[in-house]
Amino acid sequence: MRVLSVASECAPLVKTGGLADVVGALPSALRAEGVEMRVLLPGYPEVLRAIAREGIVMEEWNLFGGHATVIAATAAGLDLLVVDAPHLYERTGSIYLGADGHDWPDNPERFAGLCWMAARIAAEGLGDWTPDVLHCHDWQAGLVPEYLRAVAADRRRAGTILTVHNIAFHGLASYARIGSLRLDPGRFNADGFEFWGRISALKAGLVGADRLTTVSPTYAAELMRPEFGMGLDGVIRARRDDLHGVLNGIDESVWNPATDPAVQPYFDPAGKAANREALRREFGLPESDGPLCVVVSRLTEQKGLDLLIEALPSLLAHGGQLIVLGSGDGWLEESFRKASQNGQVGVRIGYDEALSHRMIAGGDAILVPSRFEPCGLTQMYGLRYGTVPVVALTGGLADTVIHASPAALAAGVATGIQFHPVTVDALNGALVQLCTLFKDQDVWTRMQANAMAQPVGWHTSARAYAKLYRDVANHA
Ligand code: ADP
Ligand code: GLC
Repeated sequence: MRVLSVASECAPLVKTGGLADVVGALPSALRAEGVEMRVLLPGYPEVLRAIAREGIVMEEWNLFGGHATVIAATAAGLDLLVVDAPHLYERTGSIYLGADGHDWPDNPERFAGLCWMAARIAAEGLGDWTPDVLHCHDWQAGLVPEYLRAVAADRRRAGTILTVHNIAFHGLASYARIGSLRLDPGRFNADGFEFWGRISALKAGLVGADRLTTVSPTYAAELMRPEFGMGLDGVIRARRDDLHGVLNGIDESVWNPATDPAVQPYFDPAGKAANREALRREFGLPESDGPLCVVVSRLTEQKGLDLLIEALPSLLAHGGQLIVLGSGDGWLEESFRKASQNGQVGVRIGYDEALSHRMIAGGDAILVPSRFEPCGLTQMYGLRYGTVPVVALTGGLADTVIHASPAALAAGVATGIQFHPVTVDALNGALVQLCTLFKDQDVWTRMQANAMAQPVGWHTSARAYAKLYRDVANHA
């Protein structure tokens, strides 16, 4: 089975969030299922730097405004196909945003370019390698089914799967661009890619892909409700029979406390002590009898961290401490900076992979108070490292944590704390419960051990994807 994964990011080469982790982990997870997966990526400077620039396998004279080639290469153990199109991808700064903090104005064309090349690879093949399935990730790969229709008209057609990692990003463009985006005006309607008078790349994928998936079963159900669907819940409801919630895993070769080169290795919860001490020292926090809480996150509305700022006094009053690593919205960065003036809170604004490992190893608890969370990865890192997750009861957070209810505690199966609704009051309650449980060392150690024993790898989900690939392959 040959699968071309089409995505705008892929760890460890280029990453802004969990999408990259998932795209980077799928190829090796699926190898065990007999799937040969290559990843089609935009040729951003950091990607081109990581590969040898030989092995051109396809050429396009005008890819939305300039010449482009596709380069076949391997890097970081991944089999890559890189779209080298300097007019689209050779930029400094963020892969999505210009220096003014707004989307690059030509983002529709930039990712249309990725989709166009994906469709050509599927239609024409690359010598002896032709994909049976195109696995498209988020809006950046949403136009693949449209272009496949255009370029593969009466040829054998690859199957398509669209995975929604986050419904918040629609990939919108004005109708005026329909020609330059090479889209069929006849499909600019409610059943096609039209969304409130604009072109939506995500909707193109939602109506056009053979199957839809999202990254947890609970988020799959949530997406069909107006509170979570962001205007696309009706479109998704209409395709409910084709929608599957496939829970993300984490890359256990990268996230394993026994082998993690960034931390002092440990096999059981007791091994955290040295890491906790080192973390407190790093942030200049005093010893404390309460739990050391950590947050590793984008600082955005989605992540609910404004609620944490409001709930902070009660955490501190109960002896807890907090260390935050993240970057994002200016006002949240500023609020956390202010909070760090209290001697019990450490804050690092920025992106730091190694520090994220030290924090997850050294923390007692990891906080994820998201308003919505398609899957979430950091709570699973927490589980793997015996760092008890305190999470909102939503999306993948609902599917990966066993709440410390009286029944779960009595049965000895709890792995974390969940709260609902996502409000300051409920978060306060969860933090107080955390501090109480932390005092009872027997109960606490049991929770940590349960957490560390919970499967968080890719095994089950890799099988689910492999089955979906078989279902849609060679969809004529
Ligand atoms: P999302 O994709 O919505 O941001 P996820 O939990 O799925 O949320 O994935 C976030 C990924 O990015 C995780 O691998 C997390 O460790 C990482 N991450 C987020 N912020 C930072 C940061 N400031 N420094 C290092 N890693 C970060
Ligand atoms: C998105 C979601 C996050 C998910 C990640 C990987 O960024 O916000 O919840 O874990 O994609 O699927």
